[in-house]
Amino acid sequence: MHITVIGESNIDIAVVPHSEPIAKGCTPGSIAFHHGGVARNIAHNLCLLGHDVQLVTVFGDDHFAQSMMEECKQLGVDISLSSQFDGTKSPIFLSFNDKVGNMLSAVSDVKLNGRLNLDWINDKIDAINRSDLAVADTLLSVEALVFLIDHCMVPLYIDTVSPNRALILTQALKNSRKKSVFAIKCNLAEAQAMTGEKDAENSAKKLISKGIKEVYLTMGEKGAWFCSQNSFRHFSAIETEAINVTGSGDAFFAGVIHAHAMGIKGEASVGYGLKAACHNIKSEAPVNPTLRPHVFLDDND
Ligand SMILES: Nc1ncnc2c1ncn2[C@@H]1O[C@H](COP(=O)(O)OP(=O)(O)OP(=O)(O)O)[C@@H](O)[C@H]1O
Ligand SMILES: [Mg+2]
Repeated sequence: MHITVIGESNIDIAVVPHSEPIAKGCTPGSIAFHHGGVARNIAHNLCLLGHDVQLVTVFGDDHFAQSMMEECKQLGVDISLSSQFDGTKSPIFLSFNDKVGNMLSAVSDVKLNGRLNLDWINDKIDAINRSDLAVADTLLSVEALVFLIDHCMVPLYIDTVSPNRALILTQALKNSRKKSVFAIKCNLAEAQAMTGEKDAENSAKKLISKGIKEVYLTMGEKGAWFCSQNSFRHFSAIETEAINVTGSGDAFFAGVIHAHAMGIKGEASVGYGLKAACHNIKSEAPVNPTLRPHVFLDDND
């Protein structure tokens, strides 16, 4: 399946203090650098699952960008439609986390994402429409996302990224002519931000009424909800010892998209998301490099 993924590539710097941070002092801890960004993570996961993936992103002009581009080359992710901007720095997301990667606070230095704008996406739409499906994150500008929603002729999947960025999708849906996308992946905080509702059921149903055909709403260790016009159902997470949960939502969405690519749709695809997410949290990195289609086989297969 030929899949185009559009959005951010960044460097994740994850800090895990080994004890309570000492005010004005130095706290021992671990600091890890990883390639990240929701679109880049989803593209990476889908490539590991055997798809023909094109990543449409923006790169800075530094060694972090070189390293991300080099990895794409090694994986076989096509970045020929991506742009690199002279004299710019890669987006960096610095997070302070608990031991298993739950974010406590973060600082983002992501000026480059301002380039994910209408001018940038405008001449890429024909190539996007030559894929079998397209995936985007909400790091695009509202105008770029409106353009994508209105001009994308293949099923469009959107990851809402964070409560703040989820509002970009709300605005884009409002401003678009089509007012509809095929599927979104959001967590509860993102669904709440988009709808003003408190619980999963009401927020997912409201999202469907806004023109989203399928909502995949994840709740961390509490699993995920699937919602469409005719169905609303909860699925439990697969219990496992979490090494690091960062990127589990991206792996979940890649698992769902992989299932759809295999012809397994709707509710039946959620199990693929849960298995990909479970595999993801067994690894330190935002993308578990050992992800392969066999993780979806049942133990007794
Ligand atoms: N502690 C956990 N134990 C078991 N499964 C988990 C745990 N945390 C996450 N998962 C799995 O990962 C899926 C996605 O997690 P979550 O709802 O936290 O996504 P997210 O907030 O989008 O994450 P991220 O943005 O970091 O990728 C969950 O539906 C669940 O299947
Ligand atoms: Mg997420």
